[in-house]
Amino acid sequence: MTSLRGTIRVVPDKSLTHRGAIFGAITRGRTVLTRPNPGADCQATLRAVAALGARVVEANEQRWVLESDGVLSEPTQVLDLGNSGTGIRLLAGLVSGLPGLTVLTGDDSLCRRPMARIADPLRSMGARISTREGGRAPLAIEGGALHGVDYRSPVASAQVKSALLLAGLSLREGQITLEEPERSRDHTERLLRFYGVPLEVGETRVTLRASSDLGPAGAAGTNLSARSWLVPGDISAAAFFLVGAALAPGSELVIDDVGLNPTRTGAIDVLRRMGAELEIETTSEEPEPIGRLVVRSSELRATIVEPGEIPRLVDEVPILALAAARAEGTTEFRGAQELRHKESDRVRTTLELLRVLGVQAEESEGVLRVHGRGPKATFSGGAIRADGDHRIAMTGLIASLLTDEPLAVDSRDMIATSDPGFEATLQTATGGAAQ
Ligand code: S3P
Repeated sequence: MTSLRGTIRVVPDKSLTHRGAIFGAITRGRTVLTRPNPGADCQATLRAVAALGARVVEANEQRWVLESDGVLSEPTQVLDLGNSGTGIRLLAGLVSGLPGLTVLTGDDSLCRRPMARIADPLRSMGARISTREGGRAPLAIEGGALHGVDYRSPVASAQVKSALLLAGLSLREGQITLEEPERSRDHTERLLRFYGVPLEVGETRVTLRASSDLGPAGAAGTNLSARSWLVPGDISAAAFFLVGAALAPGSELVIDDVGLNPTRTGAIDVLRRMGAELEIETTSEEPEPIGRLVVRSSELRATIVEPGEIPRLVDEVPILALAAARAEGTTEFRGAQELRHKESDRVRTTLELLRVLGVQAEESEGVLRVHGRGPKATFSGGAIRADGDHRIAMTGLIASLLTDEPLAVDSRDMIATSDPGFEATLQTATGGAAQ
């Protein structure tokens, strides 16, 4: 077993970096986004906003500098969002208000994921959207003047909510209201307010009113002024190290500059409830709360994760399932069906991963059950098939710290979609002892 020690920083937040590129394109002037996420997903969004007319003046690991007059233009090229669900869905919302034709596509995994969840409400606002059979990408969007909508989303999804809010920015009369079954992450709402857009935000309901001040008629974009900000570390990336350090004996790890938006911190709450020794110190609040986490090896016990908690930890279920595998008792993740629509069918890939490790787990009616082998367990070795999913591959690499047998993990190249430096950070935290 390999312990995790020292002080690390994790990759900058992916959700915020996508939004940083988009807001850079739809606001007037110069945006400096400091510490953008360098993964392939966010690079695809950056290329897409450049194709929509933003000027990318500088793009490196330290900063992205964008200049824009705030108004998008019809792209001449197909926009390829690679593996990124956030990229394609947010941009689909944005270009729904853009006169002309925009075609959005991605890799095989992205073209299997459901797009009707955004296409349906955007059509009800007046966008003309063609999809492949079954509501899959590629998407061909004929955008133009939109009208308001009062939409009740069947899924709690920040991607759906953000697509509608971004489409709503080009409304010149009426309003859009979106209600979701549970509250999803609120980065778009926070950023809209940060840029000066008034919003009514309730627990699960958000309303954006059209305003002639917001931007020119008949165009996608705004009159808002560009702003510069710093992207905090990604709590979803930090979760791998939190679980690794909680599980591996002899660990004490400090993670600096992590984003602590309360709609994203479900994994911290669950790990603490399981008995993880985890301290949080908030160090700044702008544009979102940022802080330092300290975690020590702990003996974990099982917990029940309720459906209402899932959106606050939706990307962390595979790594929390690994924590559950080394806890005392049976952990349940209730209402986990959304996991079937991620970069892989994560219910299936998580169960397969646990079985390779020698852990019993099953799913029925949206409840994922993990029968913990207790805090002293050592996992079996074998071969993990991550099915092209970066988060399953990263979970496999953390599991490999907890087995004395060789554990092969495939799709390691896909980790670069979100965190190209993941394996290097893992080597830093393990003093070079990771497999
Ligand atoms: C994201 C929202 C989540 C999450 C994804 C990023 C976002 O998807 O899984 O990794 O940036 O808005 P849903 O809100 O569609 O579940």
